[in-house]
Amino acid sequence: MPESEYNPPPLPQPFTNTPASQITPIYQGAEAHLYKTTFLSPPIPAALKIRPSKPYRHPILDRRLSRARILQEARCLAKLVKEGVAVPALLGLDWEGNGKDGGGSWLVMEWVEGCVVRVVLERWEGVIKARQGYMGGIEGEEEKVVRRLLRRIGGAVGGLHRAGVIHGDLTTSNLMLRPFSRIGDQKGNVDSGEEEEGGSSDMEGDIVLIDFGLASQSSQDEDRAVDLYVLERAFGSSHPRTEEFFEEVLSGYRESYKGAGSTLKRLEDVRMRGRKKSMIG
Ligand SMILES: Nc1ncnc2c1ncn2[C@@H]1O[C@H](COP(=O)(O)OP(=O)(O)O)[C@@H](O)[C@H]1O
Ligand SMILES: [Mg+2]
Repeated sequence: MPESEYNPPPLPQPFTNTPASQITPIYQGAEAHLYKTTFLSPPIPAALKIRPSKPYRHPILDRRLSRARILQEARCLAKLVKEGVAVPALLGLDWEGNGKDGGGSWLVMEWVEGCVVRVVLERWEGVIKARQGYMGGIEGEEEKVVRRLLRRIGGAVGGLHRAGVIHGDLTTSNLMLRPFSRIGDQKGNVDSGEEEEGGSSDMEGDIVLIDFGLASQSSQDEDRAVDLYVLERAFGSSHPRTEEFFEEVLSGYRESYKGAGSTLKRLEDVRMRGRKKSMIG
């Protein structure tokens, strides 16, 4: 969709008075709209996530659903921040969000610098494809950087599960890579613009988990294993060139908390069921 055609819905209170220059639409999905804005004074960058009300749903059901989902998301974020898991901090919310045209519920959270892992991996795949042609192999350094990234992803998911939260929608679009702070890094080369060949330096950073709209609380191996399985399938379909390194996600996961071993064992059952299902269906 060309940008000029994107007509974001009217903002709910209290954002109706926010000057357009201070609130930028960045994403429109089926369920949510995301804006970059600021919060407090002096302002800090923030992400505003709005779940617009659905005109086709009965208004009472609609309010109940959107309230339940935004509260669930907010609860998970608050709990995870407290547990030290890398997620954006929750800054505020309103589950009714009355606007002129029905509004919708919203929450404001800390803005995460960087970009989603999906984009990082697509860039990496693009570099390899361009250099080697479709059948080309992957060189040592390229393999190392992607392995490191995948291992950190496993660690992040393990941290989440250790805290007793199941994500419910683990894809590479719901993982962000926040670059390590460049200010005063070991080399002291603050923003020198130096990039390693193949862009490996832009694959370093902290993994931040986002989008807890389908999250729930559970410490069951089954639920954790399904979470991992969903992620594995997402890698397989969105990033086929990284599939052979998926074991790194599992190694990172294994090291991240005590019960990880039994979840990984359960993952084998979940995979088996998945294969059977795809053979029948
Ligand atoms: N806290 C944040 N900081 C920066 N960007 C964000 C943040 N939260 C979400 N985004 C961006 O907005 C997109 C959609 O947000 P998400 O919560 O995944 O919504 P949806 O439920 O529609 O998938 C993300 O893929 C990411 O690019
Ligand atoms: Mg998402």
